[in-house]
Parts: sequence; structure tokens; C-alpha cells
Amino acid sequence: MTAARAQWGSRLGFILAAAGSAIGLGAIWKFPYIAGNNGGGAFLLLYIFFSLTIGLTVMLAELALGRAAKLGPVGAFRKLVGSKWALFGYMGVLTGFLIMTFYSVVGGWTLGYLVKAVSGELTGLSREGLNQVFGSFISDPWKPVWYHGLFLLLNMAVVLGGVKSGIEAICKYLMPGLFILMIGLIIRALMLPGAMDGVAFFLLPDFSKVTISTVVEALGFAFFSLSLGMGAMITYGSYLDDQAKLVSSALWVIGLQVACALLAGLMVLPVVFAFGFDPAAGPGLSFITLPAIFDHLPAGQWLGALFFALLLVAALTSSISLIEVVASYFIDEHGMERRKITLAVCLVMFVAGIAPSLSFGLWQDVKPFGRTIFDLLDYLTSNVMLPLGGIAVSICLGWIAWPILARQLPHESPWFMTAIRLGCRWFAPLAIGGVLLKGI
Ligand code: PHE
Repeated sequence: MTAARAQWGSRLGFILAAAGSAIGLGAIWKFPYIAGNNGGGAFLLLYIFFSLTIGLTVMLAELALGRAAKLGPVGAFRKLVGSKWALFGYMGVLTGFLIMTFYSVVGGWTLGYLVKAVSGELTGLSREGLNQVFGSFISDPWKPVWYHGLFLLLNMAVVLGGVKSGIEAICKYLMPGLFILMIGLIIRALMLPGAMDGVAFFLLPDFSKVTISTVVEALGFAFFSLSLGMGAMITYGSYLDDQAKLVSSALWVIGLQVACALLAGLMVLPVVFAFGFDPAAGPGLSFITLPAIFDHLPAGQWLGALFFALLLVAALTSSISLIEVVASYFIDEHGMERRKITLAVCLVMFVAGIAPSLSFGLWQDVKPFGRTIFDLLDYLTSNVMLPLGGIAVSICLGWIAWPILARQLPHESPWFMTAIRLGCRWFAPLAIGGVLLKGI
């Protein structure tokens, strides 16, 4: 393929797009509830630690591989490391597909909550009322499936707009809006009586609560939240021009994502404690608790609607990177046409996503390996497949294709290069492998 590959419009455009892939439901929907399930502060510290060490290493490896190959994961591994390694590219494509099946369900909840906020259905409810609204929404056999389909339709609209005009444009304008709104909500949340208990729970680590499963969850969440281990950053790196500096770009993406998770925790957990919700309520935590804070704001109904609209945008900029990995595989490797393959991929994702959606209602008792279908998909992808992908890419670049990584980082100091090399060769594979084995 010699036709010029599409590129980001500017380095800022790339950072925003990569941060857009990272920042999404992970930080705002997933982080508060897994932090809540895993004792708060200690989980936060572990997450930050993994993001800055393993996360940075794997992100640099992925970006370098993608930019050097100008291909998605399958092609990049095959071209630059060896055809056997393409297996990990295929695993990435499969992981992206599996994540999308449940991610899109939660994207659908966001759409559903946007509609509820606009229609005033979320205002003036008690704690029980909010629990009940969420419970009956996600257990309905039709509504969440329908919204999941709608969410995929929105994705298709963006993806078909192409790399630059689609992804970059919405990241540039709407993501900062989400940050500003979150800060506003935090300020109000912190003024509620009892809110400080939530802040203490979130920021003061209690290491007696740390078990191996906390560590596995924190590592898995670092991968999930930074969109690592399945080739999203390989694909995005492939659209990156050769002048952009990878280290500062990666640090920006990680910094923005960690900041977003911190803000989300500070926004949700104080509300949880102030109103007496259960921090271990599970996947509904953000959806159940946030409307309580909107009720305490002037024009809360509209601020709530704005919040869910911006969350929807954040979810979209992440999900399009998942779809992009799957679609660009068929485009690059099988010469398929973007429009057709995007339609086909979204259709299959829609059908496959029906199962995790129903696992909150009709199929809540279907529990392969002791987990609901939704939980199983989430656990398997975040805590097993993404970390395995991370091991693969760091071993490839640390041991087999080191010159490629080195060539992509021409301006870094010798000590940094040594650190990254040791990180790729030893630290990342051993630390990830150790946590995974211990977890099993
Ligand atoms: N990082 C995204 C989020 O936190 C999810 C995601 C995972 C996107 C893996 C792409 C790849 O919402």
C-alpha cells in the first residue's frame, strides 16, 4: 500500500485524539465503582503507579510500533517483528471487538440517561428512587438493547467521517467542556454535608484492604483506561507524523487520563457518602449517584443533560478507537472498503452486545465461570487479554525489535533509553506476568 496514509492534523490533534480514546466511560463510569469496590485510596495509588510505569512503557512501545509500520496491530507485528507475532495483532482485534460489545451497552445507558435527564425523569428522586430508576432501566429486555444499537449508529456516523474531520474535531472542542463541568460538579459535591468522608475514602489509602485481586484490578484498569494492550495506540500511532515526540505525547495522554479519573472519583464518591449510597454498588454507581447532585444545582436538570451529553461524546471518542482497530484490520489486510466494513463490524457488534445487555435482566442468572456475561467480558478483556497484549508488545520491542523503538525516540537522553529498554525487556513483562499469575 503506497497511498499516503491519513494523518492527524497536528500534534495537538493527535494528543487530543489519543486522550479521547483513553478518556471515556473508563474514567467516569468504571473507575469510581471499582475504586469503591476495592477500598478507595489504595486502589487509586496502585492505578497511578501502574499507569506511570507499565502504562508509559507499553504506550511508547505501541506508538513506536504503529508509527514505524504505518499499519494497525496485525500488519505492524507482521511487518516489523515477524509473522508469528501477528497472532498478538489478531488477539488485539478480537479484544477490541469483545470490549466494544459491552462498552457499547454502557454507551447506550449514557444515551438513555441523557434522554431521562432531558425529560426530567431524574429530578426530585430519593435515594431509593434513583436506585429504582437505574435498576428498572438496565433490566428492561428492550430499552437498553435499543439504546446500544443507537450508540453504535452514532459511532458509525463519526467513523465514516474519516480520521481527521471526525475524531479530531470532536475531541478538540468538547473534551475540555467535560473537564470544566466536572470541576463545577466537584465543587458542589464537596459542599454537601458528609462529603468529606467520601474524599477521605478516596484519597487516604488503607493498605489493609489491598488483596491480590485489588492489584489485578488496578493493573487491568490501567490498561483499559489508557487503551493499551489491544492495538488502539498502534493504530493511532500509525497516523502520527514522524516529527511528533512520542514521550511527551504519551505523558500528556496518561496525565490527562489520570486527572480525569481523579476528577471522576472526587465527583462521585463524596456524593455516595453524603447521600448514603453504597460505594460497592457496582457498575451502576455513577449513573445512580450523579443525578442526586444535579438536584442540588440551579438548572440541575439541564446541567445533568449537559453532563450526560458530554459523557456520551467522551464515550464515542473511545469507542471509535475500538471500532477503528477492528475496521482498519479489514481495510489494511483485506483491502475492504471503509464504509462497508464499518457497517458490517457495527452490525456484528450490535448482535454480540445483546448478550451482555441482557445480563442485567433476562439473563442475569446465566453465569459462565461464576460471572454474568457482562462481568465475564469485562474481566476477561481488561484483566487478562489487555495485560497479555501488553506483555507481547513490550517483549517484541525490548528484545526483538529494539532498534525500531530506539529510532522512534531520537531525542531522548541515554538514561531514559536505558530505562525504557529495561522496562520493555524485564520490568513490564515480569510485573504484568507476576500479577496475572498471582491473580489466577
Ligand atoms: N480507554 C477507554 C475508556 O477508558 C476504553 C478503551 C479501552 C478504548 C481499550 C480503547 C481501547 O473508556
